Amino acid sequence: MAGKRDRKHVLVVGASRGLGLGLTKEFLRRGYHVTATVRAAISGAGLDEYYEQLTLDTLDINSPNLTEAFLARMKGQFFDAVVLNAGIYGPQGKNLSEVTTQEVSHVMMTNAINPVRLAERLAPMLRPETGVLAFISSALASLELNADDATPLYCASKAALNRLSRAFAATHDYLTIVNLHPGWVRTDMGGPDAPLDVETSARGIADVLEQRAGSGGHEFLDYRGKIIPW
Ligand SMILES: NC(=O)c1ccc[n+]([C@@H]2O[C@H](COP(=O)([O-])OP(=O)(O)OC[C@H]3O[C@@H](n4cnc5c(N)ncnc54)[C@H](OP(=O)(O)O)[C@@H]3O)[C@@H](O)[C@H]2O)c1
Repeated sequence: MAGKRDRKHVLVVGASRGLGLGLTKEFLRRGYHVTATVRAAISGAGLDEYYEQLTLDTLDINSPNLTEAFLARMKGQFFDAVVLNAGIYGPQGKNLSEVTTQEVSHVMMTNAINPVRLAERLAPMLRPETGVLAFISSALASLELNADDATPLYCASKAALNRLSRAFAATHDYLTIVNLHPGWVRTDMGGPDAPLDVETSARGIADVLEQRAGSGGHEFLDYRGKIIPW
């Protein structure tokens, strides 16, 4: 039986539910060792059968102390893929003068600033020749595609993620980086009317990451590998 050293190793940040949990299961099914981070203990997630392939760790990307402790625990690890998935929708149905500065800050720090900060710290742990680093973005970030500004703060936070990750990519041009739109997916965030199930989106994302791994560059793609205009 393959041990941890023989398996490809993926890190999924924000794996307690939704797409992050779906990606964790998809990579486990594909035989990877998965390090999956959660903010609080999870149970009944259907991961028990994979205990030999799974390392569950704790991380709140907005906590500097927890981030430093997590990075210290990861010291010496190498990843074939890193998926920065944690994200929030933020306040809905409010215009900018109605949301608090704290709410704005929370969305921006969670969706844009801290994923890229974490990427900067994780970059030395990614296998440069063969690895891939993914920021889970959204097609709503695309200035060209997204005429629907129903959730401007969320869209702006993902647009900021795209912009900041492009700057990150420019200074880490030895890595393969993708910003991914998972589709509109039935999760707590996507809601019950979303057309895609988690399994289909996660399978597509895993395929895209395996295809792109080690090929270099930085692209904005959807879960089927289709290019999205920035
Ligand atoms: N669903 C869609 O249709 C859709 C479309 C486009 C893009 N996306 C993006 O896809 C990603 C996953 O979305 P989802 O639909 O799976 O959302 P979800 O069901 O709401 O799950 C969000 C995940 O992010 C974690 N998270 C939130 N804040 C965090 C923090 N500060 N530190 C660490 N983890 C944190 C949550 O952990 P807790 O359980 O601890 O809260 C949870 O695991 C997000 O980046 C989202 O913006 C989703």
